[in-house]
Amino acid sequence: MAHHIPLPLPLPLRRRLHHLFILALLAVASGNPSPGVYDRGAEEAEAYSILTFHDYTPPPPPALPPPPAAPAATCAGDLGGVGDLDTRCVVPVSVRLEGGGVFISGNGSLQLLDGVSVTCQRPGCVVSANLSGDIRFGHGARVVAGWVSLAATNITLGDDAVIDTTALAGNPPDKTSGVPTGIYGDGGGHGGRGASCYVNKGQTQEDSWGGDTYAWSELKTPNSYGSKGGSTSVEKDYGGGGGGVVWLFADEIVMNGTVIANGGNGGTKGGGGSGGSIYLKAATMQGGGKISACGGNGLSGGGGGRVSIDVFSRHDDTHFFVHGGGVQDVQTMQEQLGHFMKKYLRVLLLATIT
Ligand SMILES: *[C@@H]1O[C@H](CO)[C@@H](O)[C@H](O)[C@H]1NC(C)=O
Ligand SMILES: *[C@@H]1O[C@H](CO)[C@@H](O)[C@H](O)[C@H]1NC(C)=O
Ligand SMILES: *[C@@H]1O[C@H](CO)[C@@H](O)[C@H](O)[C@H]1NC(C)=O
Ligand SMILES: *[C@@H]1O[C@H](CO)[C@@H](O)[C@H](O)[C@H]1NC(C)=O
Repeated sequence: MAHHIPLPLPLPLRRRLHHLFILALLAVASGNPSPGVYDRGAEEAEAYSILTFHDYTPPPPPALPPPPAAPAATCAGDLGGVGDLDTRCVVPVSVRLEGGGVFISGNGSLQLLDGVSVTCQRPGCVVSANLSGDIRFGHGARVVAGWVSLAATNITLGDDAVIDTTALAGNPPDKTSGVPTGIYGDGGGHGGRGASCYVNKGQTQEDSWGGDTYAWSELKTPNSYGSKGGSTSVEKDYGGGGGGVVWLFADEIVMNGTVIANGGNGGTKGGGGSGGSIYLKAATMQGGGKISACGGNGLSGGGGGRVSIDVFSRHDDTHFFVHGGGVQDVQTMQEQLGHFMKKYLRVLLLATIT
């Protein structure tokens, strides 16, 4: 019988081998603003937490299809940059992208100078880069699109740099029911269920939900768009948009900025969209940035999205936010949000350290 005996690692090296896998997902969004209905005891709220939703089996949705094949972008033509993508492409001024987005590839590096933004503010618009060199965002540089996928040797987000896919989701996966039905202005679902202010006959508030959760099979590699919130009108769509998708793959990620895949706000006539997906994979990550896939606010809040951070060695404190949206009642929102956070928020944070 052959035994494979792992060689003991020298201690300093072992200390470095903090394989950190953090998977955060939110259970449910915040609930109803009508105090008489939701104000129940803490134990009773507990009984309705995600952990007890055993009767609910969401269908396994198919994975998001890969981005459509598109002509590779050029540095000067598509990005208004200087240089080329096989050596070094520097984007000195902000650029607005046309069409379905850009597919950037090459053996070189890409740099957005301080304050430069690359925006494609259409649902599902793709900004995809796969470079052998580095991708650097200067201070305050931004990429705004529906799906941002960056693969490079090192990815650096300078101070206040932002990758933002808020409310820019394309369609959520087929055979999912994250988009609420009816005209109750319910919240969209995804990582958590959307909230509903509308209570069906014979149901309690805690039984009444907006859009469903989905993408359970992709917890470690989240790749689904968030869902739109519902509207209160058949004529007009007031629901907030779902959060988009952000993937960052690199040997080293320096995260001094912010990565956002929040759901959009629905205002007083629509539900909040649900948060989208964020997936970061790196050997090392450092920086004190923020990562957020929260549900949007609205008549009812959208569910939180999904965040997976697969990092071999992490330094510094990156902050994670994956909660559901609140209700759009400005005066009491703060207070209620605090209340909801205690009662309804369920953030599951799995960290395995080997
Ligand atoms: C990029 O690198 C690959 C693999 O090293 C090589 O085959 C390809 O020719 C390179 N492309 C250019 C434009 O240099
Ligand atoms: C990037 O491109 C390389 C070479 O073409 C490929 O092997 C790799 O899978 C790509 N990475 C991503 C994340 O698409
Ligand atoms: C990536 O970052 C590491 C550590 O900072 C550095 O040693 C390496 O040269 C960088 N890689 C590239 C391609 O610049
Ligand atoms: C990131 O933040 C750290 C700590 O504030 C700082 O030392 C480092 O220079 C910053 N890096 C970039 C690229 O902004």
